[in-house]
Amino acid sequence: MMMATEKKNCRTIMVANARGGVGKTFLSIHLAYMLSELGKRVLLVDTDPQGTVGLWLNQNSPVTLYHLVMGECSLSQCLVRYRDKFDLILAKDYIKEAELRMVGMVGREVVVRNKFEEFEVHDQYDFVIFDTSPSLSLLNQNVYMASEEVIIPVNMEPLAIVGASSIIESMLMVRKHLRHHISLLGIAPTFVNSQTNVARQVLQLLTSSYDRVLPPLRASVKVKEASGSLMTINEYDSRNKIIDDLKTLVGKVIAGGGV
Ligand SMILES: Nc1ncnc2c1ncn2[C@@H]1O[C@H](COP(=O)(O)OP(=O)(O)OP(=O)(O)O)[C@@H](O)[C@H]1O
Ligand SMILES: [Mg+2]
Repeated sequence: MMMATEKKNCRTIMVANARGGVGKTFLSIHLAYMLSELGKRVLLVDTDPQGTVGLWLNQNSPVTLYHLVMGECSLSQCLVRYRDKFDLILAKDYIKEAELRMVGMVGREVVVRNKFEEFEVHDQYDFVIFDTSPSLSLLNQNVYMASEEVIIPVNMEPLAIVGASSIIESMLMVRKHLRHHISLLGIAPTFVNSQTNVARQVLQLLTSSYDRVLPPLRASVKVKEASGSLMTINEYDSRNKIIDDLKTLVGKVIAGGGV
């Protein structure tokens, strides 16, 4: 079995923000899609009890992250393949129950990480991406411990930065108290409409507060339409300009260099 420090070739990335509706799920799904288009082997893991990844991509499975974490299935049993591009592990509301059961376990913060090591996930993928819910849950703590990098989508609301700084605080606590090395891959500005003053102000605030601000993702009504049509923007509107934004962003993600 590989130790966490040996999984050199697999990047584990958590997409997080303590605020809701900032584009976490959009970014998670599209990172997975675009990386897989570049030939990377990608696993996207939904950890949100709302199960939004499965809803958005119109995928379903009776076996989910809950069953994997509770030792009720193997890795291959819970994998769902999306359009022959990347693999998914879905979540459902009963993942909350897994959390309750985890509380009593020894090493309750590393249940997910241990499972991934047991099934040698890091040997099989180039990227593991975790979509998270905006909560301070034990499950999210598990995701911190199973990830080495964090990407924080931030929408263009003046208070959005509060949600980002809360994630950075949690990251620093995990580093200090749980001695797990996790770095900030970057802040990803989302819903950016560069015509508006508020977007300009928030972008400026972000760049003056953080060293690692990634290229922005524009706001596009087509993204909502794509989610309503249960597919990625690439499949819904392949010429949409947000795909160029995503390409630039993915280039930076591949280059890495988090702090
Ligand atoms: N760049 C964008 N332009 C327009 N709409 C977007 C964009 N990104 C995401 N959306 C839409 O905004 C809504 C919220 O996005 P998303 O679900 O990705 O946020 P989230 O942070 O995952 O939310 P939650 O905290 O509820 O999990 C969705 O309806 C999505 O389709
Ligand atoms: Mg979400």
